[in-house]
Amino acid sequence: MTRKFLIRTFGCQMNEHDSERLAGLLVADGLEATDDLDEADVVVLNTCCIRENADNKLYGHLGHLRSLKAARPEMQIAVTGCLSQKDKGALRERADHIDVVVGTHNITRTPVLLRQAAIDGPITEILDAPDPVEMTDAAPALAAVREVPWAAWITIQTGCDNSCAYCIVPSVRGPEISRPLDDIVAEAELLASRGVVEVTLLGQNVNSYGRDITKRRPLFAELLEAVGSVEGIDRVRFTSPHPKDLRPETIESMATTDAVCNQLHLPLQSGSDAVLAAMRRGYTAGRYLERLAAARAAIDDLAVTTDIIVGFPGETEEDFEQTLAVAAEAEFDSAYTFIFSPRPGTRAAQDPATFIDPDVVADRFERLHLVVERSALVKHEARVGRIEQLLVEGPSKRDDTVTSGRTRQGKLVHFRSEDPVAVRPGAIVEATITRGAPHFLEGELRRVVAPSRTVRRLELRPA
Ligand code: SAH
Ligand code: SF4
Ligand code: F3S
Repeated sequence: MTRKFLIRTFGCQMNEHDSERLAGLLVADGLEATDDLDEADVVVLNTCCIRENADNKLYGHLGHLRSLKAARPEMQIAVTGCLSQKDKGALRERADHIDVVVGTHNITRTPVLLRQAAIDGPITEILDAPDPVEMTDAAPALAAVREVPWAAWITIQTGCDNSCAYCIVPSVRGPEISRPLDDIVAEAELLASRGVVEVTLLGQNVNSYGRDITKRRPLFAELLEAVGSVEGIDRVRFTSPHPKDLRPETIESMATTDAVCNQLHLPLQSGSDAVLAAMRRGYTAGRYLERLAAARAAIDDLAVTTDIIVGFPGETEEDFEQTLAVAAEAEFDSAYTFIFSPRPGTRAAQDPATFIDPDVVADRFERLHLVVERSALVKHEARVGRIEQLLVEGPSKRDDTVTSGRTRQGKLVHFRSEDPVAVRPGAIVEATITRGAPHFLEGELRRVVAPSRTVRRLELRPA
């Protein structure tokens, strides 16, 4: 009988994409995907350690798996990703039922190590630096089992050269390494030939892409233009750019490359200059707002989203009020807000005396939430009456009589239609927006612009 695998992914899009690549390799190894834990022969937990609750979640899952493995000893458990890279050998000390521990630099080795572990017993393989093969071998990316056939992630860079005081990513993902530009374009071309119409370029600091290649200036603007001119790729997105590196030529490329979507995720983190300096972010609130204004002036109808941390060590009420003021002024379309979490080895975690009282933080978090919800609602209500182009994603998760699609700005729109061409995932349609809510829009279908070019993988399976 075919062995089955299940991958649970925690964390960011990098990890999601790593899981897709790993799934492709496991399929190539003869395994079959399942979403039923009880029938999985291989369970992979692809982990995150960005905040403390990510750690706790993993150990919770491992506890549950211990009893499953006691009942089915032949089941194999692999733990991959950022938390493995952070905890290394300590993972198996806490959970000795894990068969394979792999870090962030060698995740594509997982299938081989699983086979080896079945013979030799548990293996922990953590590399201190990226395996060069991971960066140049296109096979895992091309084999990736993607969730949807019309949209794909492309890794353009791994690691991060910044040293934000709160952040553990540089220590678990290593230094910034850019993939060669030609490889990225070739991947986009191949994806397009398989029916992909939307790509999202991934990196921790995408707008410094290529600085390690040229040893001088980044190549991100060139990359946007090159990927944007690939035949068949209609939408290009990217995440995340760093405000300090948002150069005029990047804004220019976004403005002039038709395929590049009018959407920018620009992490603010704080609106206080004192906190931004303590965070080592390399910009002031004023500079952030200036860059944002330049982007909005150049790029028509730009949607802007952000990340903000509340309760950074030493954050005063005045600091926090500046964050509220900057968030209100920036008029974000949406914001991911996080409570500061001390991470081992980071500068901001060194002095517990500077940590903010949890009740104060909870109160600030609520106040910030209100400000960002308000600006999101204003932005979304202002779209009522507009005609938007949607890439159809399929039936809405909550109500399958409703179809959901995404605008070029990246906003979710729900509409009703019984036209089989209009509701087919991957179709491009036009809708008039009829209502704006804080997290989504509603619309009325006008016409189909282009029918779907892809077929869902499941539909290909014989009945
Ligand atoms: N490279 C990306 C961010 C990756 S982490 C960037 O610079 O934009 C995603 C978000 O998690 C960060 O933007 C930050 O807002 C949040 N974050 C990172 N470390 C954190 C910590 N220790 N506590 C709380 N939030 C954190
Ligand atoms: Fe972390 Fe800062 Fe790098 Fe983003 S830019 S991954 S927040 S160190
Ligand atoms: Fe988490 Fe690693 Fe991403 S720590 S946020 S999965 S880079």
